[in-house]
Amino acid sequence: MNFHILTLFPEMVMNGLNTSIIGRAVQAGLLSIEAVNIRDYAFNKHQSVDDYPYGGGAGMLMQAEPVYLAYEALAERIRSRRAGARADFSSSDNTAEERRPRVVYLSPQGDVFCQSMAEELAKEEDLILLCGHYEGIDERVLEEIVTDYVSIGDYVLTGGELPAMVMVDAISRLVPGVLHNDVSAEFESFQDNLLEYPQYSRPEEWHGKKVPPVLLSGHHANIEKWRREQSIIRTYERRPDLLEKSALTDKEKKWLREWAGQNSGEKND
Ligand code: ADE
Repeated sequence: MNFHILTLFPEMVMNGLNTSIIGRAVQAGLLSIEAVNIRDYAFNKHQSVDDYPYGGGAGMLMQAEPVYLAYEALAERIRSRRAGARADFSSSDNTAEERRPRVVYLSPQGDVFCQSMAEELAKEEDLILLCGHYEGIDERVLEEIVTDYVSIGDYVLTGGELPAMVMVDAISRLVPGVLHNDVSAEFESFQDNLLEYPQYSRPEEWHGKKVPPVLLSGHHANIEKWRREQSIIRTYERRPDLLEKSALTDKEKKWLREWAGQNSGEKND
């Protein structure tokens, strides 16, 4: 999968994404991440890319033209790379080449990013992430190039770079091979809208707290059952909103009602 980040701060995103798991996946050729500096497409001699908003108001806006030129150059590079790949493999499928890549504009006004969105975007071959800065970007270029508006939460950041990094991280780890352990992306927080169960490592006892005995039993079916129950309890206690969307069996729902009845008020005791 290829990420293309349109930004005024390329070093910020590249420094943040070249370490650990994502950095290794890039080294291994499973992902590519490039940052395109919008300032390189400034059309005046001072290389400025921002200006005052019409109608007045605080701050500066990123102008339409440099963003558009940066996007056009990038889209053309992607198109010719795809055309080259098609010629190499003499495939008759030209749909991917013709279809323009999705362009995500990071904005607090977008749909709130979530795991299912990450799963959907992980299927793309190329993904363009457009980062605004200052007070945002001239609306006209957004209308022309943006396909998706995405927010990472209901708070306002100084720019789209951190949200872009969050998205690259969450999407990348779903690309096959990025997590060496293929099962771990599947069976964790937010899969089936359940939070992950608690985990323990050595030593068996730490600060007087013992590892739950079932985990030392070697009995796999019991361990699976305990983990599923812990996931359900955790979600019930910490994110009850998710529980409504999870696919609990009737038996599990009944079990949870009983558990909740026995444990109600425990935290206040
Ligand atoms: N830009 C500024 N704040 C943002 C947010 N919460 N999500 C995405 N992009 C943003």
